[in-house]
Amino acid sequence: MRLPSSVKIVEVGPRDGLQNEPRAVPASAKIALIDQLTASGLKWIEAGSFVSPKWVPQMADTAEVMAGIRRREGVVYSVLTPNMKGFEAARAAGVDEVSVFTAVSETFLQNNINCSISESIERFRPVAAVAAQAGIPIRGYLSCVLGCPYEGSVEPAAVADVAADLAKLGCHEVSLGDTIGRGTPAAAQRMVDAVAERVPVERLAVHFHDTYGQALANILAVIERGIAAVDSSVAGLGGCPYADGASGNVASEDVLYMLDGLGIETGVNLSRLVAAGKLICETLGRRSGSRVALAMAGGPE
Ligand code: HMG
Ligand code: MG
Repeated sequence: MRLPSSVKIVEVGPRDGLQNEPRAVPASAKIALIDQLTASGLKWIEAGSFVSPKWVPQMADTAEVMAGIRRREGVVYSVLTPNMKGFEAARAAGVDEVSVFTAVSETFLQNNINCSISESIERFRPVAAVAAQAGIPIRGYLSCVLGCPYEGSVEPAAVADVAADLAKLGCHEVSLGDTIGRGTPAAAQRMVDAVAERVPVERLAVHFHDTYGQALANILAVIERGIAAVDSSVAGLGGCPYADGASGNVASEDVLYMLDGLGIETGVNLSRLVAAGKLICETLGRRSGSRVALAMAGGPE
């Protein structure tokens, strides 16, 4: 098995994890979460999103959150920005990186950002240009890479086409999202192999939701194919408001435990990460979605 010596973990809990939370989570709780995630040694933390508050009310306080966190030197705090309005708010908040997002599926994208795939790329063009001038790196998310809640199966070649568009636009990294968590390891490898023919594998990340319990197996399968960047969410928080049944993201604690076991460097401390997950679960009144966190706490009750 050929594996990378280190893996970049991109913590998406404060954004993907919380965006779908039905009850308002106070900014102070989001700030405490991000500060604990920072303390765990994570170097990439998605802090929120500057999107329409009518569409995603939970993220409406992202400016307050960005202003309240204790930023550590060397940590990249990023946010989602669907358009110029979002980008300007992100710049004013002093973020280190912005992410744009599109999908392989037209129907999913209409429901998510109310435009077609090609319109989304056109919308991102000015964002990419201004971000480049401002020296703010852009990341691109691509949803539905292993299946769509509306359109069903998705061809790897179609994923490669849109991923290549995002890379051409200037995204330094393209995160391949199994939004509905339906993928299995062989399909994930086929998809990554197809995309890697168009975008160097060093510029690809993966973003698995664990709906069907396949996320860790998929991650292992794709890091064997050269992927060395993995999105995950502390305590397995999350889901996507526009993909029914998209349960939590793969739990960061579980990813870290697996990578530690494989001897792969991440720079993240497991006990501290578990502590961050414990606090946010208490705040939300929720049981952790991380098997590792449950095991370390003495097992599920
Ligand atoms: P729209 O309604 O088509 O756009 O929404 P609009 O331009 O007509 O704007 C409507 C209203 O939103 C206006 O306000 C704008 O000013 C305001 P009004 O005049 O009605 O009072 N607005 C904004 N407000 C704050 N920040 C902004 C912004 N832009 C417009 N940036 C839009 C289009 C893209 C804005 C909307 O569809 C939207 O915000 N969508 C967000 C969807 C979202 O956040 N989805 C979740 C993230 S994606 C995801 O989770 C998948 C991922 O995890 C990977 C995976 O798992 O696959 C990344
Ligand atoms: Mg997601």
